[in-house]
Amino acid sequence: MTPTHIEHIGIAVASLEEAIPRFRLLLGTDCYAVEDVADQKVRTAFFKVGQTKIELLESTAPDGPIAKFIEKRGEGVHHIAFAVTDLDDALARLEGQGLQLIDRKGRAGAEGLRIAFLHPKSCHGVLAELCEHP
Ligand code: CO
Repeated sequence: MTPTHIEHIGIAVASLEEAIPRFRLLLGTDCYAVEDVADQKVRTAFFKVGQTKIELLESTAPDGPIAKFIEKRGEGVHHIAFAVTDLDDALARLEGQGLQLIDRKGRAGAEGLRIAFLHPKSCHGVLAELCEHP
């Protein structure tokens, strides 16, 4: 279940309109996709950095998780996503070893990935996401 690489880093932003041009400057490349993920009440914008992506997250609802995160902690790094080849197996193993899961089963993430979050309490304050490519 060892993760193969960092799939993406999620960054909470107040406005994609403002953040996209800024990250285009930083990364020297254009955002290649913007996608709504209704389940998480976010609009996402993706950039590629090698095999890792930067996922900018803008809330689409005032009560969404990203809106709450920004309210509490301001804009910034929100989560780190690790690619795994077998999500169900990874979740079962980590839970068996005492880590607290937010999602006990994979759900639909952006770009057709199956994803699940671990509780930040279990990872020293880091919200970790596991994702499996279809
Ligand atoms: Co993510």
